[in-house]
Amino acid sequence: FAYWGASHGALDFEPIESVAATVDDLNVPAGYGWSPIVRWGDPLFNDAPEFDPRNQTPEAQAKQFGFNNDYLDIIPDADGTTGVLVCNHEYTNENLMFPANQRADLEHTAAVAIAAHGMAVVEITRDGAGKPWTYVRGGARNRRITADTPFTVDGPAAGSDLLKTVADPEGKTVLGTQNNCSGGVTPWGTVLSGEENIQNVLSGTETMENTRYGLPTEPPERRWDLVDPRWDGNNEGYENEVNRFGYVVEIDPSDPSSTPVKHTALGRFKHEGANVYVAGDGTVVAYSGDDERFEYLYKFVAEDKYVEGDRAHNMTLLSSGDLYVAKFTGNSEGEIDGSGRRPADGVFDGKGEWLPLVVDGESKVEGMAVDEVLVFTRLASDKAGATKMDRPEDVEPNPHTGKVYVACTNNTKRGEPGKAGADEANPRTNNRDGHVIELTEDDPNSAGTTFQWDILMVCGDPAKDSTAYFAGFPTDKVSPISCPDNLAFDSQGNLWISTDGAPSTIGFNDGLFRVELTGENRGRTQQFLSVPQDAETCGPVIHDKDDMVYVSVQHPGEDGSFEEPRSYFPDYVLPTREGEGQFGFARPSVVQVFPVKKGKD
Ligand code: FEO
Ligand code: CA
Ligand code: CA
Ligand code: CA
Repeated sequence: FAYWGASHGALDFEPIESVAATVDDLNVPAGYGWSPIVRWGDPLFNDAPEFDPRNQTPEAQAKQFGFNNDYLDIIPDADGTTGVLVCNHEYTNENLMFPANQRADLEHTAAVAIAAHGMAVVEITRDGAGKPWTYVRGGARNRRITADTPFTVDGPAAGSDLLKTVADPEGKTVLGTQNNCSGGVTPWGTVLSGEENIQNVLSGTETMENTRYGLPTEPPERRWDLVDPRWDGNNEGYENEVNRFGYVVEIDPSDPSSTPVKHTALGRFKHEGANVYVAGDGTVVAYSGDDERFEYLYKFVAEDKYVEGDRAHNMTLLSSGDLYVAKFTGNSEGEIDGSGRRPADGVFDGKGEWLPLVVDGESKVEGMAVDEVLVFTRLASDKAGATKMDRPEDVEPNPHTGKVYVACTNNTKRGEPGKAGADEANPRTNNRDGHVIELTEDDPNSAGTTFQWDILMVCGDPAKDSTAYFAGFPTDKVSPISCPDNLAFDSQGNLWISTDGAPSTIGFNDGLFRVELTGENRGRTQQFLSVPQDAETCGPVIHDKDDMVYVSVQHPGEDGSFEEPRSYFPDYVLPTREGEGQFGFARPSVVQVFPVKKGKD
C-alpha cells in the first residue's frame, strides 16, 4: 500500500498489561484510540431494515451485517480513501441473539441464524490516509453471502458422485458456505475463506467417513433441518450434503455479481483458512491447517504459475494442482518428555516431509480414487502417515521471507490414554497454551517435498510456567500469551498473533500481540490490545504504514444471555426498558485502532 501509506512503517507502542478476565473493555496502548467500523445487525443495503434485535427476521438479517465476525480483511482502493471490508460470519450465539421467549421457537432462531452465517463484503470510506473508516450503507460492492448464495464447485472432485444430491444431481453447485473461520487475501485480490466446524449445522448418516469428520447422526441443536431438509443427511436425497462443506472457498470482493467457488483441489477438512504464497519463479502454494486436536497440516502446489496482472488466469490457480500433508520428524525425539522442557540441543526442531496425496492429477493413496482423497482427505492423510498436530489454526507464509508460521492453538488431550503422546513438534502433553512452529521450505520456490522446522514460541505465562519459550528472548521481558490462533504480518516482517482461549487458560482476556522474528529481539512478544470479557480476537489486519490496526471482536459476553449480558461492547449502552429504542448488550463488531493525540478516545 505504498501509494497511500504514510510515514515510517513501524507502529510505536508501549505494550499493554495483561487484562483480567472480568474487564468488559477493549484496551489499546497509550496514544491509541479505537472505534467500531461495522457491528452485527448494521444495515448494509438501502432497503435493509434498521437493527431491531427484539423483532429480528431472516429477511432483515440477510441484509444486515451477520453475527460473530471472524476472518477480516481491509482492502483499500488505490487512493486509500475508499475500499472494502471482507469478513466471515462464523457462527451464532442464540443465547445472545434472541430473547428467551424466541429461543424456544427453533424454526425461528434457525431461520435467522442461517441468515446470520456466511460472509460480508462492505464498502468503507474515510477522509484521508491514516484516518478512521466508516462503512457505506448501500455501497456498490456490498454483499451478503448466505446459505442461499450459489457456489461453483471446481477442481478434480467437481461432479463426483460423492457430491450429488437430489437438489444438485450434477454435483457442481452448492448453496452457501458455512462456519467460515479464517482466510486470506490472495495476491490477485480475491479472498479465501475456510469452512471449518460444519458439524455445528450439519448431520449425516452413520458412516465411517462421517464419524471421522465428527458429524453427528442427529441434527445438532441449531436444528437448521427444520428450515431446509438438506442440513440433515438422514433425509432422503441429501445423504451427500455433508460432503459439500469443508472446503476452501474463493470470492471476488470487487464484483458482487460474481459466483464464488469451492476449491476441491485443496481437500476437505475443517479448514481454519488458507494462505497463498507466490515464490520467486511464480510457483503458487497455499497452506492450510485442519483445526481439530490431532489433525494435520497441508500444502497445495498449483499446477500453473502466477502471471502478474492476469487476474482471470490467476483466479484459476487453485483449481488444479498437487496436495500434500505434513510429516514432522524431530532431531531430539528420544528426549521429549511432554513437559515442554527444551531438549539437550536447546530447540524443538527437525526436518519435515510433504507426503503426497494427489500429484499430477493422480491419487497417491492406496485404495482411494482422486475424488475420495479430496472429499475424505482426513482418511487419506491417516493412510499417508501424517503427523498429528495440536490444532493447527492459521498457517501463514511471511511475504518477506517465505517462511511459514503455524499456530498450534492448544491440545489438552495430547498424552491422554489412547491418544498420541508428545513429540518434538508438539512437545507438551496437556498443551493448554499452544505453540507456534516456523517452517522453512528447502526448495527456494516452495514447491519441494522437504522442509526444516523449529518451534518459534512455546506459549504461556513465563511468571507461572518455566517452559514458556520465546525463541530465546528473555522471558521476563515479554507479554504472557496463550492459544495463538490468527496470524498476520506487518510491513517490517513482524508476526502478529491474535489469541483464542483465554481467559479460561491463563486467566487474561484474549488479545493481539506483535512478535519480532529477526535480529537480537527475535521472540520479543508485546501485547497491543485486549478484547472485552468472553470475546475472542480474530482476523488481525496490520496496516502499519497507515498507522492502522484492525480486529474482529467475536462473541463478546458469550457466557451471558440476552437477558443477562456480560458485555455491552462496543456501544456500552446500558440496558433500558423494552420499547425505548435502545438495547443493552454486546454486538460482535469489526474494530479499527488508530493513533490519537492523547489517551484513548
Ligand atoms: Fe474457528 Fe479454528 O477456530
Ligand atoms: Ca480461528
Ligand atoms: Ca532439537
Ligand atoms: Ca477460534
